Amino acid sequence: MLQSGDMNTIYNKRIIVGISGSIAAYKSAELTRRLRDAGADVRVVMTRSATEFITPLTLQALSGKPVHTDLMDADAEAAMGHIELARWADLILVAPASAAFIARLTSGDASDLLSALCLACQAPIAIAPAMNQAMWSNAATQANIDTLKQRQLNILGPAQGSQACGETGPGRMLEVEQLITSCAELFQSGVLAGRRVLITAGPTREPLDPVRYISNRSSGKMGFAIAEAAAEAGADVTLVAGPVLLNTPERVTRVDVETASQMHQAVLEQASACDIFIATAAVADYRPGLQAVNKIKKQAEEMQLKLVKTQDILATVAALETPPFTVGFAAETDRLLDYARSKMERKNLHMIVANPVGPTQGFNQDTNELDILWPNGHIHLDLDSKKTLARKLITIIAERTNAIDTTENTGRKTR
Ligand code: PMT
Repeated sequence: MLQSGDMNTIYNKRIIVGISGSIAAYKSAELTRRLRDAGADVRVVMTRSATEFITPLTLQALSGKPVHTDLMDADAEAAMGHIELARWADLILVAPASAAFIARLTSGDASDLLSALCLACQAPIAIAPAMNQAMWSNAATQANIDTLKQRQLNILGPAQGSQACGETGPGRMLEVEQLITSCAELFQSGVLAGRRVLITAGPTREPLDPVRYISNRSSGKMGFAIAEAAAEAGADVTLVAGPVLLNTPERVTRVDVETASQMHQAVLEQASACDIFIATAAVADYRPGLQAVNKIKKQAEEMQLKLVKTQDILATVAALETPPFTVGFAAETDRLLDYARSKMERKNLHMIVANPVGPTQGFNQDTNELDILWPNGHIHLDLDSKKTLARKLITIIAERTNAIDTTENTGRKTR
């Protein structure tokens, strides 16, 4: 029986269900349906031999999306190329994984679409072996499995029992519910268990009059992805969100605000009780000095606006007597690393995330590219989905906070 927690964790995840040639392929139909019932966005990729066991049409009907079978299919590549598909995924689950597919995966053979995707994908990969018990026990298969484990692939099963070939032993693919529970566990890293994380996201709106405001292009996607990743990592997450059109991630407490001043107040109410503060929001640096009570009328050819500085929320939190581990963001069109580093130093932060602004990065995009800087360190994260980057960022933040806890015990002395 599936737990509602597993369903929640799977919700909204992008999962590639890979199917290779095994009689257990019939279970992939039910797997696809149940993953979709749990709210996952599922794309199915089948090897040629998998199509001998179950038709792509069945999987297309169940996933609601065209099924990918061929590396050289120009139409499929034009719709979503295999590298794009690899970037899109939060997880690749190959179920069933035949002995032949496992051998190809181990050798890095990219001659079929599913193997090529596994090579190109930076998201977690899980395989559910399914084969005759003697094939499973064979030294070659076991050596392949050992290699894949060393490479951090997740091996789900196989189960023991009677097999389609009439034999009994290890080699049965895990049941669908067990596979979904295992996938849910893969999304829950636990690296921030017991930590309280406060995150800001989205833009702010600074009103000029009752109908107009000054704002920016932030969609909130980056901050919401970080909130989701932090919750999956076991943290108790509060998300202070500017006006955005996004659903609240599961297990996240959301506080909606509109202006920089409201965001400042909401953050300060929570900041002293949190362990980690991540300022992803694109907060207005200036607001209109006066907000007109009535709609401003069109009159002269020119009009001047007097703007006054807003309070810097991030700098205020970093200056608290016992500040949380404080992470800023810096979105820049030029001199990215210089500006980001100087913001980190000026605001006295533990870490800053430099975010280039471009056609595939930054504001209102589904993808991003990040440089994570701290006083003695720098990690570059290549272009990827905001969700994947968020999970990587959370892992790095967890490592840095743990490093500080173990070496210093107090405050922010280790940078
Ligand atoms: O929301 P998306 O569409 O997904 O886009 C994500 C993003 C590009 C907005 C995000 O990844 C990002 O880079 N956010 C920072 C935007 C920025 O350039 O901020 P800033 O340089 O103005 O401020 C630097 C830091 O100080 C930020 O952490 C900001 O939250 C914080 N700040 C700024 C001003 C202010 N008054 N208070 C603050 O806390």
